[in-house]
Amino acid sequence: MQLHQILTNHISFVSDKKLVLTSELQRKDFTRLKALLSRLGAQWDNKQSEFIFTRHAPSLVQRIIDLGSSNVNKFHLYPSTPKVFDFMKEFTPICYLGASGQRKLRVLEPSIGLCDLAMSLKDYLIQEGRDCILDGYDIDPLNVELSKQKGFNVQERDFLTVQPEPIYDLVLMNPPFDSSAFVDHVRHASRFLTPTGVLVSVIPVNMPRLLKDDVRHRWLMDRIRLYCPEQLEKGNFLDKDTFKNVSIDTTVISLNSESAYQKDLASARTLETQLCSLSLSIDNNLKELSLLSERNTEVFSAKTIDMFLTGFLDTKLNEELNLHPAFLKQFKQFIQDEYLPLTKRTPTHSLCLDNLLFGASLTKAA
Ligand SMILES: C[S@@+](CC[C@H](N)C(=O)[O-])C[C@H]1O[C@@H](n2cnc3c(N)ncnc32)[C@H](O)[C@@H]1O
Repeated sequence: MQLHQILTNHISFVSDKKLVLTSELQRKDFTRLKALLSRLGAQWDNKQSEFIFTRHAPSLVQRIIDLGSSNVNKFHLYPSTPKVFDFMKEFTPICYLGASGQRKLRVLEPSIGLCDLAMSLKDYLIQEGRDCILDGYDIDPLNVELSKQKGFNVQERDFLTVQPEPIYDLVLMNPPFDSSAFVDHVRHASRFLTPTGVLVSVIPVNMPRLLKDDVRHRWLMDRIRLYCPEQLEKGNFLDKDTFKNVSIDTTVISLNSESAYQKDLASARTLETQLCSLSLSIDNNLKELSLLSERNTEVFSAKTIDMFLTGFLDTKLNEELNLHPAFLKQFKQFIQDEYLPLTKRTPTHSLCLDNLLFGASLTKAA
């Protein structure tokens, strides 16, 4: 028997959360029905001979009748578990945003799903004596219906078509990941931030690497490199079992608004931080350190210089340290034009790369 036929002719709802069979099904049909309903979160209660749902059963079943059983997760709903929000509290500015308590935070959840992140945030803020006004969107009519039932202000829209209004202090999101859609969702959502606003998002970790040369992706990577490069390091990801039925690694990033990003990029403090990362990493790489502090060699061979500039700066620092590309270029130029020629001329000079780089940063900042 077709699943469609079973759902239209052989079931009935005892309540919003309970479904029973109205006729006996063959074993194989029952097994298929059970597998399908369990994907919607239902459990079979053997004693009562009924399926128990945690969500509104008639809407869920109607959705399958409308869309077809193969499209149950057409919009890539993978609800955030409490682990996601705990991670956000620990590693993002959520723990202090709006802590002055002077006014309610304005929050946007652009793909709200079943409100899991939204509810965690509300509960947390209330516990902390803070509050928020939260607006949400979702493309899936069922999610919108269920979110409204939970009391949230949610509109049924494709978020990517919503006209940005820069009014939100916080954008909290776990967007759809399919074919790198998350990059477009994060970028579009960033346009809704006030100048001092913060965007906190779950992202898949493998995607940035796969999409290395994609312009959209570079937009995101540049911002991650400035604000939270450590979140792309192994060991800093969300636990594997954080999302049900998701096998890829995921992490949480937090970015500032575009205007803040442009200001931060030009600030002396950022330059200093990037320089510190560079120096630290040279200090921790013995081969490169000895190369640069070699005093008894009269000249650096072209090969050595190339090894340092290409091998170390381009590859190692770029991939391991996630230095921002704007600074990487600047540091490379500096080492090539100023440091290496100077060392060549005065091979016994006790140059310290740190000092030179720091001097350069101060000159630039002045
Ligand atoms: C990974 S789930 C996350 C749900 C929720 N944010 C959470 O953390 O629990 C992604 C959600 O994005 C919604 N979605 C997919 N494409 C969308 C779009 N273009 N506009 C708005 N929502 C979308 C899906 O319906 C689904 O609810």
